[in-house]
Amino acid sequence: MEIKVAAGDITQVEVDAVIVNVFQGEEIPGGDTAALDKALEGTISLLIKQGEIKGKLNEVTVIHSLGKLRAGRVAVVGLGKPEKLTLSKVRGAVAEACRLLQKKGVKSVATVAQGEGVSGISVEGSAQVIAEGALLGVYSFLRYRTGEAEHGEIEQITIITPDESKVPFLQQGSQKGQIMAGATNLARDMVNEPANYMTPSDMAKKAEELAVTYGLELTVLEREQMQELGMGALLGVAQGSQQPPRFIILRYQGASHKKIDIALVGKGITFDSGGISIKPSEGMGEMKTDMAGGAAVMAAMGAIAQLKPGINVMALIPATENLPSGTALKPADVLTAMSGKTIEIISTDAEGRLILADALGYANTQKVRLIVDVATLTGACRIALGDICTGAFGNNQKLVDKVIAAGNEAGELIWQMPLYDEYKELNKSDVADIKNTGGRWGGAITAAQFLAEFAGDTPWVHLDIAGTSMSDKERDYLVKGATGVPVRTLVNLVLTLAKK
Ligand code: BES
Ligand code: MN
Ligand code: ZN
Repeated sequence: MEIKVAAGDITQVEVDAVIVNVFQGEEIPGGDTAALDKALEGTISLLIKQGEIKGKLNEVTVIHSLGKLRAGRVAVVGLGKPEKLTLSKVRGAVAEACRLLQKKGVKSVATVAQGEGVSGISVEGSAQVIAEGALLGVYSFLRYRTGEAEHGEIEQITIITPDESKVPFLQQGSQKGQIMAGATNLARDMVNEPANYMTPSDMAKKAEELAVTYGLELTVLEREQMQELGMGALLGVAQGSQQPPRFIILRYQGASHKKIDIALVGKGITFDSGGISIKPSEGMGEMKTDMAGGAAVMAAMGAIAQLKPGINVMALIPATENLPSGTALKPADVLTAMSGKTIEIISTDAEGRLILADALGYANTQKVRLIVDVATLTGACRIALGDICTGAFGNNQKLVDKVIAAGNEAGELIWQMPLYDEYKELNKSDVADIKNTGGRWGGAITAAQFLAEFAGDTPWVHLDIAGTSMSDKERDYLVKGATGVPVRTLVNLVLTLAKK
């Protein structure tokens, strides 16, 4: 899909469909909608009067212009109450409209800077979320379908302004939105891939593509190097699989100093069967998505390299399968992590925290200033927050607050969970320094508390995306399948940190 910006008159464009807005409680449409209403001889205001158009958020009404306009259709999209408008609502509404129009076979679309000037929404901001909404909302994963697609794709969207001076601002916003959405859709693609096409080596190959395309520095550690570094926890998980593990390191150097300002760590379990503590077979296939944290971190690095903030970022992705076999890790085994801490294995299905322990250990040898890790870590977090909010845990409230703010801007909701010391007791082992599960109750918290031991004194935030990495339906900018959460949160965070 191509997203363009142009100065012009929205009532004069020749496209398959034009998208404009109405607000809830508005009896007569204003602005661009009014101009189109006039050209349509009052159809929009009539539909408002008759109660068909209510202006409720995400309501889409498609009106055929029947020759009254050069555009074939006008899609009138509700944005809810004007005083409650946010950029996230515009992003979602654009996604809903584009999805509907695409299903109707529409190929070319024109729209305006939706919401601009309402509730403090800027021209750039509007253009960014329009680009994001359009690209994220019509995403599909069809790589393994050999038949004909059910419908075509929207090929072009033009954001039109009557004011020539706004064009550069629209351009800037649309450019950023395209980078953000492109990265999110890359993460979605990786997560939607079946595990036989997204092995640890395949992830490393993707990392190489990113490095070559965007000029990132790449190092991939193989088993032998992991052994030299003493990554016993990661190797313990990997020992049950025929697929060799990979430890992927991507570096973005945007500042002249040597220090790494932030490390982004992502769980890269390319298939989680549970290992010897095997999962029930029903629904096990979903565990091909257990590398969603790693995918998000990698995709965010691609966007960061394009946006070029003045900051140094390192991405660390420990990648392996978790499978049962004659060589697999067993309950009651003891592993020694890179940090030197010993871990008693209670469940081989609590593998995410093991591979992250070594990635956090590695980050701490690199003397990074901050760490954010992203992981599909616990079913407990999904039970607690559903697929609406990502759970956040951290040892530094300032950093937690920044991550949550970055998420709000992205429309990726995050809710902070507690990390009280009292929970640490639950991870105490009789035979080793720590055990890898703290029992059923508070499972998301004890998992985070386990990671905290390996983050040490470095300011750190852990994002548990077990609930938010997948969506079972279309909702706002989300489609069914992988969500690409929290790629845009990570990019926003890095951009914010770079400004300081
Ligand atoms: N990958 C899973 C967590 C998960 C569950 C992600 C559902 C996405 C959807 C993780 O490795 C796991 O198996 N966690 C166990 C931990 C338990 C054994 C302490 C869990 O949550 O049941
Ligand atoms: Mn598991
Ligand atoms: Zn897992």
